Amino acid sequence: MTASAARRAAAACLLLGLSPAGCGGGGGPTSAPSAAPLPTPGPAWNEVAPLRDAAASGGRLIGTALFSSGLANEPAYAGAAGRHFNYVTAEYEMKWDPIEKTPGVFDFSGADAIVAFAEAHGMQVKGHTLVWHNATPAWVSSLSPSDLRSAVQNHVRTVVGHFRGHVRAWDVVNEAIDDTSLGLRSTVFSRGLGDDYVAECFRLARQADPDALLVYNDYGGEGLNRKSDAIYALVKDLRDRGVPIDGVGLQMHLQAWNMPAAADIAANIRRLAALGLRVNISELDVQIRQLPVATKLTQQRQVYHDVIAACLTEPRCEAVTLWGFTDAHSWIDTTFGPDDPLPFDEQYRAKPAYFGVQDALFGR
Ligand code: G3I
Repeated sequence: MTASAARRAAAACLLLGLSPAGCGGGGGPTSAPSAAPLPTPGPAWNEVAPLRDAAASGGRLIGTALFSSGLANEPAYAGAAGRHFNYVTAEYEMKWDPIEKTPGVFDFSGADAIVAFAEAHGMQVKGHTLVWHNATPAWVSSLSPSDLRSAVQNHVRTVVGHFRGHVRAWDVVNEAIDDTSLGLRSTVFSRGLGDDYVAECFRLARQADPDALLVYNDYGGEGLNRKSDAIYALVKDLRDRGVPIDGVGLQMHLQAWNMPAAADIAANIRRLAALGLRVNISELDVQIRQLPVATKLTQQRQVYHDVIAACLTEPRCEAVTLWGFTDAHSWIDTTFGPDDPLPFDEQYRAKPAYFGVQDALFGR
């Protein structure tokens, strides 16, 4: 039995109020007296209206994270991506590790394939990400401070230069705020370049591409909380010092059972916009594994709707990017276990969440 079939069977068990183990051991329901109906599958990805049309009706971009092998090998993946989205972020292939595995040797093949797909489908591209403490090759961590500065300069200049004219915006620095201290996270970059490395990286990116929008991207600062205060303080300081920063990415990796208030999300977006910054929801997915089975899909739909509606209350909240679009490919499942966090199911059929996204983009 495939994993997804086992999960559907387990879901059937849960609908019956039985644990998968007590309902045939997860190997699918035994002869249950009256199996509750599984959620009826939605319409296929090519039977529902393009989300990009809904987004365009409000002057927004709707994006997704993508990976090149899916585009090359999975027709439904490529078809749905090209139909529904007008903004693309490389989920992994524009990061330091896959591009410059060894010093000075650059491999843009995966990233170029994603950019080529985007441009063939009238999609804009967001570069993700130039400087991040994850997905950075081990050789970077072993450099002296002066060699590290040279390596960062070379990496940023080479990568931004390579994609100049093809990238609308860059996530220049990702996740620089520490979750506990709410100060600057201690990373190879802060330790090697000093506390002003964030400003240094934005200046490097601007020199390499005078036109791309330069964005600071982070998680956990979606509503009004101590981390969003810290992100606000960081980007306000950069703006006040004339550092070339154009926007903020709020990742929005959400847990439907533990949500910030939509009003707080809207207020946070507004205060960032009041600094003159563009705002984008950069990595939206909505985890539902801890919700009651009977309400998972309706609650997920509501969360997608309310978060995107909060973005649309602010004209400078210009783009919403999903961190993947099909439950067949989500980092959540590989990281936290079966969850189904995205608007299309494993067979690329539209879930209720798809309609929540569409309604919000249409302003409904
Ligand atoms: O493609 C290689 C493969 O060639 C190799 O054999 C294999 C063995 O390690 O690794 C494969 O790369 C993996 C890559 O995803 C592509 O699947 C990496 O190991 C794995 O670490 C990487 O995970 C990504 C992660 O960022 C780290 O870069 C996830 O897909 C991606 O969803 C996740 O996204 C991040 C954002 O960039 C920043 N915000 C948080 C978000 C979730 O962690």
